[in-house]
Amino acid sequence: MSSGTTQTITRAKRLAGLVAIPGDKSISHRYAMLAGIAEGVSQIHAFAESVDCQSTLECLRRLGVKIDRQGSEVTIEGAGLEGLRPSLEPLDAGNSGSTIRMMAGILSGQSFRTVMGGDASLSCRPMKRIIEPLARMGARIHSAGGGLPPLTIEGGSLVPIRYDLPVASAQVKTAVLFAGLYADGITEVVEPHPTRDHSEIALTQFGAELGRGGRTSNIRGRSRLVAQELTVPGDISSAAFFVVAGLLVPGSDLTFQGIGLNPTRTAIIEYLRSIGGDITVLNCESRSGERVGSLRVKTSSLGGGEIPLEAIPGLIDELPVLSVLGTQTEDGLIFRGAQELRVKESDRIAAVAGNLRKMGAEVEEFPDGLRIPGRQLLKGAEISSYGDHRIAMAFTIAGLIADGTTTIKDSDCVQISFPAFFETIARVTG
Ligand code: S3P
Repeated sequence: MSSGTTQTITRAKRLAGLVAIPGDKSISHRYAMLAGIAEGVSQIHAFAESVDCQSTLECLRRLGVKIDRQGSEVTIEGAGLEGLRPSLEPLDAGNSGSTIRMMAGILSGQSFRTVMGGDASLSCRPMKRIIEPLARMGARIHSAGGGLPPLTIEGGSLVPIRYDLPVASAQVKTAVLFAGLYADGITEVVEPHPTRDHSEIALTQFGAELGRGGRTSNIRGRSRLVAQELTVPGDISSAAFFVVAGLLVPGSDLTFQGIGLNPTRTAIIEYLRSIGGDITVLNCESRSGERVGSLRVKTSSLGGGEIPLEAIPGLIDELPVLSVLGTQTEDGLIFRGAQELRVKESDRIAAVAGNLRKMGAEVEEFPDGLRIPGRQLLKGAEISSYGDHRIAMAFTIAGLIADGTTTIKDSDCVQISFPAFFETIARVTG
């Protein structure tokens, strides 16, 4: 996502107060999609204020689903498993990999043809990973050269498969499970490493027959989905920017309420605590199968060190801001096994390395990770967001601890996941 907007950031004195975090993007996509093919009217509270999630709603509307949105309150009149209608226009997934990949699972089960594409960034992102299993189930999917969007999906009756995921990807897992709703029999996916399980939880919540064991999830096709009333927890990946800022800016004390603490998403908290982060988890409860609670974060001295390989899929979206944090730790930070970062909304390994160097930091780049020495002074610089929301936000946090002034180019891309990000920065910095 590219625009001409620029934000200017200077060193923060202290961060304090309650930080309002938008609804979880991953969960909002899933609730909307499942509500769209459920029977009855679903009510979703605290739906993510995110351009990506709006793209999902727009795609569902084009397929004939009736949706009413008033801010973060969304009402969806489900069309039922078989009730979607062909769209005359191509579906536009915008910047959202989750929208195109997970919707492709649902569209594979429809008896009509759909074209779906997105913006310049999405048009460079790999789709073979969903085309391959969905084609094995019987969908005919044509892509632009090299398995890139736009996709033309000719759905139909599907056969169940057992699929060993070659990459640890919750989006691919979800595409196969959603397609499994349209297959006669049991569709099974096996993950190389556990990834976020919001789809399994949401499918169960909507009444699907879903089974789980170890790294395997399976779904019985043709189970009827029933409309739900659900509240989306706060997005821990959005909170992560402020959690890191709270740890780094001297004298800070921040509180976050109603944050999603699903164990497949809390690797960021576990890692930060393991290196000395003063993070307290309070008031945990289960809400519609998702764990939700509050966090309190205070400024801390941080050790640093290597992020364990098995933790990588669970904190893949937090690696840009963790890299910024690495420069302020005692021992620095190193991570490998994160080649997936190269095919996100931007090449996040190159973007982080390039921007840290612009701020005067030393960083070593690997094909699948970064090594960032600790105890480095950051200098204000002109930062390129590459139109990537997580790069813009990570380097805003860097600007809060840097000498001088930092400017974030194309800062408007924060709309993708956190439209009120800069207002929230202004509020907590007083
Ligand atoms: C997501 C899964 C992850 C993550 C993305 C959201 C999801 O992507 O990076 O921001 O909602 O399932 P992959 O499935 O490609 O790893």
